[in-house]
Amino acid sequence: MMARLLSTSCPLDIASSSRSYYKPSNQGSISLSSSLSLRISRLPLKKLSIYGKKSQRHCTIYTTAVSTSQEAKTEPGTGSYRSSSEASTPKKVMVIGGDGYCGWATSLHLSNKNYEVAIVDNLVRRLFDHQLGLDSLTPISSIHNRIRRWRSLTGKDIQLYVGDICDFEFLSEAFKSFEPDAVVHFGEQRSAPYSMIDRSRAIFTQQNNVIGTLNVLFAIKEFKEDCHLVKLGTMGEYGTPNIDIEEGYITITHNGRTDTLPYPKQASSFYHLSKVHDSHNIAFTCKAWGIRATDLNQGVVYGLRTDETAMHEELCNRLDYDAVFGTALNRFCVQAAVDHPLTVYGKGGQTRGYLDIRDTVQCVELAIANPAQQGEFRVFNQFTEQFSVNQLATLVTKAGEKLGLQVRTISVPNPRVEAEEHYYNAKHTKLVELGLKPHLLSDSLLDSLLNFAVQYKDRVDTKQIMPSVSWRKIGVKPKTVSA
Ligand SMILES: NC(=O)c1ccc[n+]([C@@H]2O[C@H](COP(=O)([O-])OP(=O)(O)OC[C@H]3O[C@@H](n4cnc5c(N)ncnc54)[C@H](O)[C@@H]3O)[C@@H](O)[C@H]2O)c1
Repeated sequence: MMARLLSTSCPLDIASSSRSYYKPSNQGSISLSSSLSLRISRLPLKKLSIYGKKSQRHCTIYTTAVSTSQEAKTEPGTGSYRSSSEASTPKKVMVIGGDGYCGWATSLHLSNKNYEVAIVDNLVRRLFDHQLGLDSLTPISSIHNRIRRWRSLTGKDIQLYVGDICDFEFLSEAFKSFEPDAVVHFGEQRSAPYSMIDRSRAIFTQQNNVIGTLNVLFAIKEFKEDCHLVKLGTMGEYGTPNIDIEEGYITITHNGRTDTLPYPKQASSFYHLSKVHDSHNIAFTCKAWGIRATDLNQGVVYGLRTDETAMHEELCNRLDYDAVFGTALNRFCVQAAVDHPLTVYGKGGQTRGYLDIRDTVQCVELAIANPAQQGEFRVFNQFTEQFSVNQLATLVTKAGEKLGLQVRTISVPNPRVEAEEHYYNAKHTKLVELGLKPHLLSDSLLDSLLNFAVQYKDRVDTKQIMPSVSWRKIGVKPKTVSA
């Protein structure tokens, strides 16, 4: 599915022979030249299995399940990062999408807290960058080097399964081999603009996200019934109703009868809709099969560093600033650093929930440590503060001035279809009740984000900043997004 998407939508020539997807190498990296290849380490491995035989799906990336525990050099761990909440018997947590922005930070955080972690990822996020000519502001290492570095610094292993969760054979093998107590599922196409580029990206987004999540549900049912699913949803599922947004459910009295029902969803892109479909599928399987699940309706995440990713440059997280994958505050900081006006879409009254990436990792840990009951579909709104786009622009302007930056703001025609002035009041108390200690947006965080943006400003491609995807102009024809 992934290769078909690429081949119809961009000039990259994807080889049709499935053999070209697996090229053993000592370097863990993706290379894209005349054909696409996913390189996977061939250093001595205790466990190396190859999945993804010619599947019925048009094209499947060749996948491997790799335990890095044997390939990492046994440099002594410092042991100095052990946390106070060390568990005597670490729980096994599978982090799907563990090479991405939230997933990488979470994997390290959980590993640091002595959970036994396995990352499952097909590295498609890195391919999107190649496909669209984008790049993270920060240089990021290959997943193999990231994991090796983590082990050399801390002595802790993170297992790695490289593959597509839409390939059930691959996912089953990963489940049977790792036997997770909890699965944290970040592994989706997560950009609303990406899902609105053209028909093929809209379909890719919904297939990837909905089928991937369905496969995870079936894998839990089949191989690890008591496994707790912690699924990343989004606050965008709710839309912007003219009443308070509750955490997942609302009690309604209608014609004299009262019931507590799922809170209405009004998603505003094919991506957000994929999340709504996921939520419905998960809720149904909780009821029908007794799956235990937590849906984390996450707000917009900002920030770069967590305690763990700050330990070494090879552990550095990605930071997206472009108009397709960049999210509001991160994007504004980079714009300020390169003297590009902050791009406010339309009137700028769009208000959303936001949180620091240090709180993302904290929230996920809290959800794992306090699992849902068997059959329970639990919903938490995962954000700490709400801001309008105009408020963010003002905060970044003030912080920029302190650093001597001349920050300007422009209003650009809104490429999205959304309310630009509206009521917004979303509840977010359940994670706080479980113990979340929020990192609220402060001057010092904004200073440090801006300083990072300035540090890496030579890597910024200013052509990627202006919005290039229109909600109204989405068409059937495959679209090349940027020159
Ligand atoms: N970043 C945010 O501000 C934000 C806000 C709300 C919700 N979320 C949700 O959090 C999750 C993670 O977001 P992120 O910003 O880290 O995204 P990301 O794109 O950086 O990471 C997602 C990871 O999942 C992997 N992946 C995608 N499809 C896969 C598949 N079929 N099989 C295996 N791996 C696959 C990608 O390669 C990538 O590494 C997403 O589900 C997203 O919807 C993110």
